[in-house]
Amino acid sequence: MARGCLAPSGHWSTLIDRRPLRYGPRNHTVGATDKPLVALERSLRMRMEARSLEIPTPRRIRYGGDYNPEQWPEHLWAEDVALMAEAGVNLVTVGVFSWAQLQGGLGAELSADWLDRVLDLLYEVGVGVDLATATASPPPWLVRAHPDILPVSADGVRMSLGGRQHYCPSSSVYRDAAVDLASRIASRYGGHPALELWHIGNEYGSRVNACYCEVSAAAFRKWLRDRYNDDIDELNRAWGTAFWSQRYLDFDEVGPPRTAPSMRNPTHQLDFLRFSDCELRACYLAERDVLRVATPQVPVTTNLMGLFQPTDSWAWAAEMDIVSVDRYPDPADPYAHVQAALVADLTRSLGAGRPWYLMEQAPGAVNWRPTNVPKNRGEFRTWSLQAVARGADAVLQFQWRASAAGAEKFHSGMVPHGGVDTRQWREVVALGADLRNLAPLAGTPISAHVALLVDWESWWALELGSHPAQLRLPELLFELYQPLFDSGTTVDFAHPESDLSQYRLILAPALYMVSGRAATNLIAHVDSGGCALITYFSGIVDPDDHVRLGGYPAPWRDLLGLDVEEFSPLPSNETLPLRGSVAHSRSTGRRWAELVRLRGARPLLEIAAGPLEGQPAATVHRYGRGAAYYLATTPDPATLTALISEITFEAGVPTAPPRPVGVEAVERGGHVVLINHTDAPIDADVGANPRRDLLSGSMKHHSVTLPPRGAVVLAPAENL
Ligand code: GLA
Repeated sequence: MARGCLAPSGHWSTLIDRRPLRYGPRNHTVGATDKPLVALERSLRMRMEARSLEIPTPRRIRYGGDYNPEQWPEHLWAEDVALMAEAGVNLVTVGVFSWAQLQGGLGAELSADWLDRVLDLLYEVGVGVDLATATASPPPWLVRAHPDILPVSADGVRMSLGGRQHYCPSSSVYRDAAVDLASRIASRYGGHPALELWHIGNEYGSRVNACYCEVSAAAFRKWLRDRYNDDIDELNRAWGTAFWSQRYLDFDEVGPPRTAPSMRNPTHQLDFLRFSDCELRACYLAERDVLRVATPQVPVTTNLMGLFQPTDSWAWAAEMDIVSVDRYPDPADPYAHVQAALVADLTRSLGAGRPWYLMEQAPGAVNWRPTNVPKNRGEFRTWSLQAVARGADAVLQFQWRASAAGAEKFHSGMVPHGGVDTRQWREVVALGADLRNLAPLAGTPISAHVALLVDWESWWALELGSHPAQLRLPELLFELYQPLFDSGTTVDFAHPESDLSQYRLILAPALYMVSGRAATNLIAHVDSGGCALITYFSGIVDPDDHVRLGGYPAPWRDLLGLDVEEFSPLPSNETLPLRGSVAHSRSTGRRWAELVRLRGARPLLEIAAGPLEGQPAATVHRYGRGAAYYLATTPDPATLTALISEITFEAGVPTAPPRPVGVEAVERGGHVVLINHTDAPIDADVGANPRRDLLSGSMKHHSVTLPPRGAVVLAPAENL
């Protein structure tokens, strides 16, 4: 899937440390407690999860978090593992930022006796380890010896040591050092029986997603030569350099799109975004490949970040055995639980429906927003249950013990500064018990009949600027997602070029840039009986960011039965009245309007007054055996909900049973999960057949009262 990426430069396999594994074969046991069955089960389970995800019983949900014992005196470790046992913790992520504690020089032997003791201790108490390659924060000695690994910003400032992720992704010094470290860690711990999962790097691109230094410039030129077959005229054509006298005579004239006096060439910027993503992924792949060679049976992951723009999550997820995500919705946002659900559905979709891991969430507050509102009482539980309901097989937090020092000392931890006689700790222990009860959900699938299309390259191009208006894809995705969430309709996300045949309805919000293949894919979907809803500013440009001529959206004019002649975006404080079959008396459109000429499409909404009166705002067009809908504005929430409800009905999307506002309903593996996201009790109908609530153990039928931020997980009727 790594479209347009080159193979990582260098021969990483030559750097693999081929010394025998310190702990021997994976079923070897250490320490006083011999647990061959645990080790065997773990090893078998991991193999199955990584390849086919046919997980044999006993199933379980992983629970735990980032464990940073190097921040604490060793005498506390025994307390840590005792508390982990009390909370039901069964998986911890170790060593994410431990490079400086593990190695004292380039190519030096690991000084990791402390880590040996940590892993042995965890194994003794039955806690599995997601072991990091520790490469996310290069140590000071490496920066001192090679200051040119420090990244440079678009305006030429070289960043300094003192934070984290301070490396240029194209630096061969950094990559070689990281691969060396990963290789030594694989060699030392690849056979450790506590090892369940490799955690490569950390949140790639979250602090530095692109570097503009000379090393990056040279790598970018090489990448461009490969992309354009060493033909500078091809680059000139793709970048449209006839505009503003930008024609290049040689690749050596090209650099990264550094700060410039006016709007920069968009295709130049787009290619640099593609390149930068590839360079970050090359860092990941280099480490991943040494781990795969050393320990083919141990699955790998790195933590994605939901709708995080710089890294193309489709391409990244394709390179992982288990897709994992860090999810930090803002408790101050009244729609935080909907945002969280969206990220869950996205992460599941990135892994093609396989169970995913919630790699990080805050047990309470974070410390990196201007004001860090803690989670409301009960939200730690409800958002965790939501993750499991939407396909997660692990609920992990950042971090186990709240730090006493450093930049994140006011970030919540599972063990707060106040210790165990605290609300936070009681919630941590209670959640551990809940997750144990949810073991039957582990490994089970979720099905969806609706998919939202998202393509990172189109997203990059959409937000480059110099457009009719600044559209933000996450907002547009959320606007379409919310009415579906509210109606209890489970949504997948899909790449526009992927197989869409399992879906009845496809939603394409501002899919600005489309390849020919993506355009045909959507047409074929509708032709064969599916439905599609395409919004404004979709299908506008090709993958070089050149406008597809002849009227917008050129590839889909016949599909939609209309031509868009002109865009008419609205100032942020302006709305237009709407009328039509799905309108209410005060329906409005905002953000966007257009001059649309209908060529067979039927309006469902139109502008009701002003200079654009009579212009279609929403249309439907029968095409082949299906129907294509178009949205030329953003209707107010009630009107959009009515429209989406009509479209899902017409598309034959199975309707979820009605349920009260504020209650989330999801079905996973035949289990029905109902979550009350409000702070008032709500009665919900659960049907006439008695079903066991896995959380309380009691039978439920007809109606349940969900307490404030309460939940039930109803087992399938046959599992009584
Ligand atoms: C990210 C990082 C963690 C930590 C948390 C804090 O997710 O991966 O190391 O900084 O944020 O919220």
